[in-house]
Amino acid sequence: MQNLQVLSFSRSTIGKKVIMAVTGVIGIGFILVHMYGNLKVFIGPEYFNAYSEELRELGAPIFGHAHALWIMRLILIASVALHVWAATALTIQARKARPDQYAVKRTLEANYASKLMRWGGVVIFVFILYHLMHFTWGNIHPDFIPGEVYHNLVVGFQFLPNVIFYLIAVSLLGLHLYHGGWSMMQTLGILSPRYDQAVRRGAAAFALLMTLGFAVVPLAVLFGVVK
Ligand code: HEM
Repeated sequence: MQNLQVLSFSRSTIGKKVIMAVTGVIGIGFILVHMYGNLKVFIGPEYFNAYSEELRELGAPIFGHAHALWIMRLILIASVALHVWAATALTIQARKARPDQYAVKRTLEANYASKLMRWGGVVIFVFILYHLMHFTWGNIHPDFIPGEVYHNLVVGFQFLPNVIFYLIAVSLLGLHLYHGGWSMMQTLGILSPRYDQAVRRGAAAFALLMTLGFAVVPLAVLFGVVK
């Protein structure tokens, strides 16, 4: 009975939107903590490497070495998978509901925003895979040393095309957070027309902060501030 309820919830449009919103909140939490953690690179190599090691040892006395990190990773992987699944299903559903794509005229703004969300989402997903190969697994890094996170980061950002790709990705991430944050408020019913403008401004400020917070690290390496 309960299984059936879960199934019909995930099949409904609102169910999928709620899945997108909840997994989006988990993603936002990770992004916020990751952006803040990256800024510790400005304190210096020992501090930054120790911070990264601490993350691996998080909860070790209770869960064992790196196990808490793995629990968080699994939650994050499940969230990304559900977010992509719900987005794809909603897109297919919307297309089916509009047999003649041009018969219904939506406003240009809504059209651009949803296209940007879809294609931006695809680029962000590709970026995450590239980013893991770059800094976590090291298989596309020119001089990867396991555990030497500061070294890996500095070497990685000495290559201009790489910095450009990171800057494009974090800018698209900002736009994704801006529009996604606002739609999430709508789905979760937090948004009343009275606060619409304030929520939009808040979402824009948060998105801009995240983009700048991420972008400052590759730029600092490129311009020799972090070396
Ligand atoms: C300029 C921006 C960024 C920098 C400098 C950066 C840096 C790093 C570094 C150095 C690591 C490896 C950490 C370690 O091994 O201890 C890492 C891991 C990771 N980053 Fe980023 N990152 C950036 C942006 C992003 C963005 C925008 C996302 C997601 C949208 C992201 C998602 C991840 C993920 C999922 C991991 C793997 C975490 C794990 O499970 O170990 N990063 N990042």
